[in-house]
This record gives sequence, C-alpha cells and structure tokens, in this order.
Amino acid sequence: MTTILVTGGAGYIGSHTVIELVNAGYEPIIYDNFYNAKKTVLKRINTILGREVKCIEGDIRDAQKLDLVFSQNKIDGVINFAGLKAVGESVKMPLEYYDNNVNGARVLLSAMLKHNCKNFIFSSSATVYGEPDSVPLTENSPLKRANCPYGQTKVDIEYMCQELQVAHNDFSMVLLRYFNPVGAHKSGLIGEDPKGVPNNLMPYLTQVAVGRLKELSIFGNDYPTKDGTCIRDYIHVVDLALGHVAALKHCLNKPGCHIYNLGTGTGYSVLDMVKAFSKAIGYELPHKFAPRRAGDVVECYADPSKAKNELGWVATRTLDDMTFDSYNWQKNNPNGYED
Ligand code: NAD
Ligand code: WQD
Repeated sequence: MTTILVTGGAGYIGSHTVIELVNAGYEPIIYDNFYNAKKTVLKRINTILGREVKCIEGDIRDAQKLDLVFSQNKIDGVINFAGLKAVGESVKMPLEYYDNNVNGARVLLSAMLKHNCKNFIFSSSATVYGEPDSVPLTENSPLKRANCPYGQTKVDIEYMCQELQVAHNDFSMVLLRYFNPVGAHKSGLIGEDPKGVPNNLMPYLTQVAVGRLKELSIFGNDYPTKDGTCIRDYIHVVDLALGHVAALKHCLNKPGCHIYNLGTGTGYSVLDMVKAFSKAIGYELPHKFAPRRAGDVVECYADPSKAKNELGWVATRTLDDMTFDSYNWQKNNPNGYED
C-alpha cells in the first residue's frame, strides 16, 4: 500500500484528490489545520468512499507535529495543498502569506528530508506565468515576478523545490501548475466553499444562482479579446484531482524535477462562462459590466500536451460538466458546509 500524506487535504482541491487517490488504490492521510476547511468535509469524504480516511489535525509549520506524523506512519510521498490562496488578502497581509506558504513548505520539506521521504507534489499555479507574452502557455514559458504576494509565494516555492532537488538529486519533485479549477464531485457532497464573498468567478456565479448574491459584476468588457472579457482555462476539479493520481503513478520514486501544466488547453471568456452557467440553471444569470479588476491578466490558457505525452493525462470533463456540477453542489449546500 502506498501511503500519501495530503496536506491541505480537507480543502477544495485536496478533498477531491483524496477521493481519487483512494479510487486509484492509494492510502491518503489528510493533514490540515482547518484554517479554511470545515470538519463536515471529512464525513462527506467518508460517505462518498464508504470507508474512513485517516485525518490528523495539524499545521505544516509545526515541525514537532510533523516529526511525530512521519515517525508514526510510513509515508511514501506528500502532496502539499496546504496554503493561503486569496490574492487580495495576500496584498493586505503579505507576511502571513510568506509564512504560511513559503515557510510552511520549507518546514514540511525539512521533515521529509529528516524522515527520508523523497516524493513531493506541489500545488503550483498558472499565476507563476504572470501576464503571458503569448498563449498557450507551455512549461517553458518564462516565469514572471508575480503581481501579488500570493503569486510570488508560488514562484518562490517552485525555486525552493528545484534547488532542493539539485542538492538531493534522489528527490522526485513534481510541480503542478493549475489553471482555473472549478466544478465539484458528481455527488454534490463536496465542493468549493469560500469564506465570505467569493473572489473567484465560479463560486460567485453559484452564489448568485442560489440567491446569496444579487448579480455578477463582470470585471471589464474592453479587453482585446473576442467579446472584451478576459479568457481563462477553467478545469474541472475532478480532472485536476486525476492529474495528481497520474503524476504519482509516473513520478513516484523517479528522481528529478517534473513540471506540468494542468489545464484543458481551451480558453473561455467570462461571457462564455455566464452563458454556460445560464444554460445549467435554465435562465439568464443576472450580470452587469463593471470596471476592470486590478492585476487581471487578459488571456491565460495552457498547452497541456506535456502532461498528455508524459503522464497520459488529459482533462475530459466539458464546460457543461463544470457548470452543472458547480451548481449542483451549491444547490445542495446553499450555505456551503455547515458545521
Ligand atoms: P483551500 O483553501 O480550499 O485548501 C487549502 C487547505 O489547506 C485548507 O483546507 C486549509 O485549511 C489548509 N491549510 C492552510 N494553511 C495550512 C497550514 N499552514 N497547515 C495545514 N493546513 C493548512 O484551497 P484550494 O483551492 O483547495 O487550493 C489548494 C492549493 O492549490 C493551494 O496551495 C492553492 O494555492 C493552490 N491553487 C489553487 C487554485 C484555485 O484556484 N483554487 C489555483 C492554483 C493553485
Ligand atoms: C476569472 C475571471 C475575472 C470574479 C485567480 C488567481 C490565481 C488562481 C485562480 C490560485 C477574471 C473575472 C471574477 C467576478 C469577474 N488561484 N471575474 N467577476 O483571476 O484567473 O485567478 O484564481 O492560484 O492565482 O489569481 O480567477 O476566478 O478570480 O477570475 O468578472 O466577480 O473572471 O476578472 O477575468 P483568476 P478568477
């Protein structure tokens, strides 16, 4: 049995990945401080799987606790989802972001070295590409200085991982650059549950649909795109979760630094998303145009061919799957997870 420590495993992407890890025959252990997750998610995961998944409450910055976890469990690899992820919040509290994300990853990697665990998968982001010079983005597209502390923590952690891999070349280091994760598990039992008013497009759409918010503001309609709104590569969270399973299958115990874009390769505009979402709910979702949001890139989508060629992974879920599953989750849980 291959045991994987899933830090941040109670969060949005982590919870979906835990399900797919079990489905693929891996044994996940969730390690989460529940800063941005509710304990209800654990019950939901167990309901979906029909069995219990082990969970340890803890912080990735807690070296002593990690020491205990690695001593008491035979851990073959770590997937690190733990981190803070709100762009606007990171501008207001940069030190918390560098501490939680960069220092957290450093403490975690130190514990892994100490316990001779040399398989690491890191949740990176397309944000490392900044405002792209051209699209689609390949893994060789240049990294840019990020436009916010959150984004910069991803760039910094990527460099830290690569440098550690040079110093310890028996390490398998996997950097997965996610594009825009949306959607939810088919069961409608788990999904995205942001604190407060959502910053991201899809949870905003779902909350308008269930009446928690009045209307969507579309940030900017004068961009140089087909309809004036920004283009993104939205990817279903279950496809993303399966990308982690594929990365484990191919990279476990394979020394090196392995970098993959996880996206669909298709860009959709904000108006495309509103249209698709309106189709899922059966009426036109209330929306209006508003000024541009500072820091938004115009167009960002992946060339996912490296993951296809090397990992045999492709995203198969459609835009209709993404909108339907997001709405289904929110409809079943209008107030998210209630503890
Ligand atoms: P999330 O907030 O739902 O999940 C993160 C989880 O980590 C939460 O359960 C939180 O409680 C936990 N956590 C935070 N700090 C911790 C710490 N110090 N110790 C232990 N646990 C901690 O976020 P998500 O959307 O699932 O994102 C997971 C990862 O993927 C993050 O690193 C995020 O930056 C990255 N990512 C997310 C997106 C996205 O749009 N959702 C895109 C690209 C990359
Ligand atoms: C998508 C599009 C908005 C909300 C962010 C982070 C990135 C990554 C994913 C973690 C943009 C528009 C949005 C709204 C809108 N996270 N929009 N009205 O900005 O691509 O990426 O989340 O790594 O780092 O920057 O995603 O969902 O916020 O926005 O018009 O109320 O929707 O302007 O064009 P983004 P998003």
